[in-house]
Amino acid sequence: MKTDSSPFTAEEASFLVRQRVARLATADGNGTPHAIPVCFAYDGSSIYIALDEKPKDVPATRLKRVRNILENPGVALVADRYDEDWSLLAYVMVRGRAELVQPGSREHAAAIRLLRGKYHQYENMRIEDNPVIAIRPRRVVSWGALGASRDDGQLLDALRGRRSVRRYLPREVPNKLVEKVLEAGRWAPSPHGRQPWRFAMLRRGETKEKLAEAMGDRWREELEMDGQEPEVVEKRLEGSKRRLLGAPVLVLVCLYLEELDDYPDEGRQENEVTMAVQSLGAAAQNMLLEAYSLGLDGGWVCAPLFCPEVVVEALGLDEALIPHALLTLGYADGDPPKRRPRRPLEELVVYRDS
Ligand SMILES: Cc1cc2nc3c(=O)[nH]c(=O)nc-3n(C[C@H](O)[C@H](O)[C@H](O)COP(=O)(O)O)c2cc1C
Repeated sequence: MKTDSSPFTAEEASFLVRQRVARLATADGNGTPHAIPVCFAYDGSSIYIALDEKPKDVPATRLKRVRNILENPGVALVADRYDEDWSLLAYVMVRGRAELVQPGSREHAAAIRLLRGKYHQYENMRIEDNPVIAIRPRRVVSWGALGASRDDGQLLDALRGRRSVRRYLPREVPNKLVEKVLEAGRWAPSPHGRQPWRFAMLRRGETKEKLAEAMGDRWREELEMDGQEPEVVEKRLEGSKRRLLGAPVLVLVCLYLEELDDYPDEGRQENEVTMAVQSLGAAAQNMLLEAYSLGLDGGWVCAPLFCPEVVVEALGLDEALIPHALLTLGYADGDPPKRRPRRPLEELVVYRDS
């Protein structure tokens, strides 16, 4: 239902805000049409379009869309969804008057915030120096399955598809892919946004060997202390070393507590650390999932957690780093390991609403 104050129905408005791109049609004073794809944000009243930074000799106001708006403020904007499943097709077309909102006004600042909130790419662009196009909607036409959404479950497929790999092919992993995996780690949630993790990259055979030897010595002591048979000790140590040396890339995930909040009482301080560890787990999972989505395989080795000071010394790391886990990255050798069965949701969830 449309209301007096808005030409949109709730369904049209919610369709519009979910679209990432729209086409903006303008016309010059002679009526010559011009249409371009645009990123946009809708605040429930106006639609805003940023003017990207341009080389100095082409001021944003020389853009054809801007010149057209100045000559003829009547515009149309269409946002649509295309899908091979035609039952999902839909569009919303908005007609209205466009104007330029100049920097320095409240509306301009709010529009820039809105656009940056929707598109992270704008965070590093100086769009605030240029005017923003504002469309004041007058008429809205829509068609199709506005409320439908394509539940393609791509993320869930990746979550289900990832599995821990423990044996790799001796095949190089391009640096470009490793950088993307590290980048994924950076975007994990963390307490107060403190990002209490640091990553150490290990690719060279001798570095991995040094680490494996140092951790192995400590593990040998522990296994012997447990009363394990010497052959068992040697076999386990050999397996662990083979695993580390056989992985083309190791990412050592370390906890970094230097920037956590300080509390006078132990309880809250402990919780700060717990939260940091929780978020280290989220960073590690981000990296494993990104690796998987890039066609790589990954694994998780907890050994550093048991001898953090040994790892710091072997790798010459800053003592503020607390090694927690090694992520192995590469291409799985042979068939993927069998997926570990998961407990059914009924076992994991209690519903307390009814
Ligand atoms: C905190 C943590 C520590 C782990 N440590 C090891 C390890 O030291 N060695 C290993 O082979 N797998 C390790 N894993 C991987 C688990 O064994 C694996 O995630 C689990 O069996 C489920 O299998 P999947 O990852 O293939 O789904 C660890 C996983 C987590 C979350």
